[in-house]
Amino acid sequence: MAQKVVAIDGPAGSGKSTTAKALASALRLAHLDSGALYRSMTLAIRENGLPLNGPNLAAWAKDAPIELRLSDAGYVPTIAGRDVSQAIRSPEVTLGVSEVASIAEVRDWVNWALARASELHPRGVVVDGRDIGTVVFPNAALKVFLVASPATRARRRVLDMGLTDDEVTVARVEGEIAARDSADSSRDIAPLIKAEDAIEIDTTDLGFAEQVDRVVELAKAALFPEKS
Ligand code: CDP
Repeated sequence: MAQKVVAIDGPAGSGKSTTAKALASALRLAHLDSGALYRSMTLAIRENGLPLNGPNLAAWAKDAPIELRLSDAGYVPTIAGRDVSQAIRSPEVTLGVSEVASIAEVRDWVNWALARASELHPRGVVVDGRDIGTVVFPNAALKVFLVASPATRARRRVLDMGLTDDEVTVARVEGEIAARDSADSSRDIAPLIKAEDAIEIDTTDLGFAEQVDRVVELAKAALFPEKS
């Protein structure tokens, strides 16, 4: 049976998280950002001074005190109860996250956390990431795969970070994004690929409102067909 889940996958800067958040608010669903869990794990590893390729890392990760806590603003990533929503966006975390995300035990733990959180929401959840439609929720009612040109994705990321979108900055961020996409797409476990039954939307030339409207219409039809 299809799960009351909308899976939104795609590469860095394709607009997954912002689209997922807007969709969740439009249809009163819960939004789960799987990348925030990988980022929280990366931050917790750094704060504990653990080497990324150490032998005990996987065992440590299973019991790491990371949680998505429900608040008025949706789910907030926490480490030992501390709100880390800002700290997980730092350049240091962004640089290390793909390596942490390639550890099998880390992925098992994230997937378990997502499954548990989704069970608490009978109306449905929107989950964004890289492998949500392929691995985590293969029976999702709707799978969307967002893409955009590398330059557009880099420019969006630069503006997100509050920087000026001059040529040099955009080119640097484009290089960083390309390196992360390549690591995420070429890893052995749960690589970034489009699920066969996902609907691909190219957001390069779409305004944000238009992009959200498209996904909202698709999600309404998939989750609440009796009303559409
Ligand atoms: O928002 P942004 O595109 O920068 O990335 P994110 O969604 O915060 O994810 C950060 C990183 O976590 C990705 O580059 C992947 O390495 C990893 N990730 C993953 O492997 N699988 C997911 N379902 C989500 C994120």
